[in-house]
Amino acid sequence: MQKLVVTGGKPLRGELSVQGSKNSALPIMAASLMCGGECRLHRCPKLTDIYAASRILNCVGCRCTFSGNSAAVDSRSIDRTEIPEELMREMRSSIIFMGAMLGTAGECTVSVPGGCELGPRPIDMHLAALKRMGVDISELSGRIVCRIPSGRAHGAKISLAFPSVGATENIILCAVTADGETVINNAAREPEICDLCGFLRACGARITGDGESRIVVKGKAKLHGCEYTIMPDRIAAATYLSMTAAAGGEIILTNACVPETEPFLSVLEQTGCSIYTGENKIYLHSGVRLRAVRERIRTMPHPGFPTDAQAVLMAALAAADGTSIFEENIFDCRYRHTDALIKMGADIQVLGKVAIVKGVRRLHGANVEATDLRGGAAMAVAALAAEGTTQITKISHIDRGYEKIEEAVSALGGDIRRA
Ligand code: EPZ
Repeated sequence: MQKLVVTGGKPLRGELSVQGSKNSALPIMAASLMCGGECRLHRCPKLTDIYAASRILNCVGCRCTFSGNSAAVDSRSIDRTEIPEELMREMRSSIIFMGAMLGTAGECTVSVPGGCELGPRPIDMHLAALKRMGVDISELSGRIVCRIPSGRAHGAKISLAFPSVGATENIILCAVTADGETVINNAAREPEICDLCGFLRACGARITGDGESRIVVKGKAKLHGCEYTIMPDRIAAATYLSMTAAAGGEIILTNACVPETEPFLSVLEQTGCSIYTGENKIYLHSGVRLRAVRERIRTMPHPGFPTDAQAVLMAALAAADGTSIFEENIFDCRYRHTDALIKMGADIQVLGKVAIVKGVRRLHGANVEATDLRGGAAMAVAALAAEGTTQITKISHIDRGYEKIEEAVSALGGDIRRA
């Protein structure tokens, strides 16, 4: 089983091009099966979740191939609408294939998706919305059988109880070819939704309002293949910035998406780091010890502070001067990384959705186990600042979302290797 071996204490310096967004590439890959042609996707990150999505595409009859950071998906010969359970379980994003399948074949059989253990991850909002669009859904021993009696979904007015990213994506995919107009109220506003809609518009879909809380999809679009470049990964950017903030040094991130990363940057700069942004560049300098963030760090739907950056920022603040308080409002169980940080010397108290992080003088190396994707990345952040050497096991979690993390960090001067 592979592990990362990290020796802390070296500042990070240099330039790093931000990888393509995992949480944009995955729904776009699902959407590509609707086009009935060939899609070429650029800046596609090399991640295990991306390869899992390609296995699903190939399993239903598409041809998905990769060349460097480009993917080609040919969806002219879909011959299956059932996705095997073992493929569904590989990641959360597999559930987005439901909307894509319904939007193109009018039926699908899937199962409850896998993904990071962040607490219960129900899909009730997905299913309720699709039912309102005319989809008959029955659940049979873990399998979810969907079919549209008329063969084509119809438009609907849907108000989401919570701006769920996945539910918004599934509704959009089913609505693009539905009969009539669909309005989504309280839609997720994440940048990855806008990127998915940008891709769908390039394929001929008629969608407006993405990025706001009310999205309108005009149905019955005739879709075709396209060429599209996936947006940069704002959470990967937040991760490398947190590493530099914690370890010290100065880096420039290129090919970054600055406005989309602002909700994170506006908190990070309160730690005392110097941050300058250009058109698609983010410069960070971290000198002496970080300061604790005075106001409570509340994770919220975009444009609030992103839940996916909670763990990595917490790792950076574990050795800050003062006490920072986090409030995790998106997932029920997203503090699983705190045990590892405490093992490295952090002083963190978790009280329900609140985590109180009292800055210690310095963390020390330890042997830790990645608990989930962003929790594992947080351990790498902590290890780069800690005194001594840390071994991180179960790094398959990290490989789901970070392209060759050890190469990226080594290129910045970090002492890290995969063993
Ligand atoms: C997406 O997950 C992202 N994953 C997550 O990133 C991200 O943390 C999350 O959005 C929030 O921004 C991908 O895009 C692949 P949600 P998703 O539906 O769609 C509850 C990462 O680290 N909920 O917005 O699953 C749910 O339990 C990953 O890259 C329901 O109750 O998130 C959660 O508490 C982790 N019923 C909250 O809503 C539903 O039907 C937000 O979930 C759907 C969701």
